[in-house]
Amino acid sequence: MRMTDLIHKKKHGLALTAEEIAYFVRGYTNGEIPDYQASAFCMAVCLRGMNREECAALTEQMMRSGDVVDLSGLPHTADKHSTGGVGDLTSLVTAPIAAAGGLSVAKMSGRGLGHTGGTVDKLESIPGFRTALTETEFIDQVKRVGIAVVGQTANLAPADKKLYALRDVTDTVDSIPLIASSIMSKKLAAGAESIVLDVKYGSGAFMKTPEDAEKLAEAMISAGRAHGRKMAALVTSMEFPLAPQIGNTLEVEEAVRILKGEDPRGYGIRTVAARLAGEMLSLSLDLTPEEGLARAEDILRSGRAYEKFREWIGAQGGDVSVVDENRFPRAPYARTVASPASGWVSRTDTESVGMAACLLGAGRMTKEDTPDLTAGIVLRFAPCDRVEKGQPLADLYTSDPAKLDAAERTFLSALTFSDENAEPAPLILKTLR
Ligand code: URA
Repeated sequence: MRMTDLIHKKKHGLALTAEEIAYFVRGYTNGEIPDYQASAFCMAVCLRGMNREECAALTEQMMRSGDVVDLSGLPHTADKHSTGGVGDLTSLVTAPIAAAGGLSVAKMSGRGLGHTGGTVDKLESIPGFRTALTETEFIDQVKRVGIAVVGQTANLAPADKKLYALRDVTDTVDSIPLIASSIMSKKLAAGAESIVLDVKYGSGAFMKTPEDAEKLAEAMISAGRAHGRKMAALVTSMEFPLAPQIGNTLEVEEAVRILKGEDPRGYGIRTVAARLAGEMLSLSLDLTPEEGLARAEDILRSGRAYEKFREWIGAQGGDVSVVDENRFPRAPYARTVASPASGWVSRTDTESVGMAACLLGAGRMTKEDTPDLTAGIVLRFAPCDRVEKGQPLADLYTSDPAKLDAAERTFLSALTFSDENAEPAPLILKTLR
């Protein structure tokens, strides 16, 4: 087999066999296939696509390129994954609801990159919280508490790690089969039997249109089912930040409020988090989706999800008194941004809001950056609200005051003010089961 023949076939839109895909993944992971051939291959996939069988084979090979976690000793293992967004703290709320409902949530999460946040960074903003556990500690905690969340181990889908870094610098990220196989290889290797996906569309998401988000959801569901997993997906809006607090510590604080019973006006976070938990309970316990949602709502309202959250944080070394007493560390510098105009905030470029939080220090521009865990933005308006000139729109937080000007400019550039009232985009567009 020669790599040039595989590139040629894909360039002409022909389907590759499972053996050819295995040859590519093996060869690229062990260094026999060079970056320039892998780049040409990824570009051909971007332009020509892949059919279901090719996508399943690519997913399988990337999954098998490293460790596959064995969760077979645990009951009702369930995982969730979001394709990423701004103010997207759903895991911090969904996971404890699911665990309080009797599921085993053994979750490997990522760090933030670019304008999107990551659960591992958020959890590290709780003093003492350990995101690196040994495999034995990880499994034991899930057995005892029902939930453990750790960073991805170095050897989880190493083929994807290498390929993703290459795609990032060759403009080959935005391909549905490449994204689906990248995400699903890691989710399958992490071992859960039920997987619920939150596939985002809109100005703050990878997929800019609902149609593309739905295609991505279908591709991931199909790759998961091909490996015997129970799958469901929500297609949800990222036309606006999901929660009013953006940034690592700020998002944990927001999650705690929701777990204690609050629901920020006009924001989707509580609704989406409860729906995702409902789908997890429904898939794992063979409930109807309505029964799953009712159970999730009951667990959240009764305070059992908050109790489970406290137990989880304590089990991983986090200081629960900080959570209970809301004594999270604060950024030393703050600025309130006033509205430059009167009108309805009819559109928000969510990626720019996320980028403004990054400029304050909340995110990473490169994988090597260390985020400022206290940096971020607190929004003081809801989607499509009417605001008056001079009204406070947001508070910016940072440890470096030199960052405030650029962040304020980027934040304001994200907003469109209109004389006409506008309706927020639908929050949950579709459920695929
Ligand atoms: N997240 C991933 O893990 N992979 C992609 O390709 C895109 C987003």
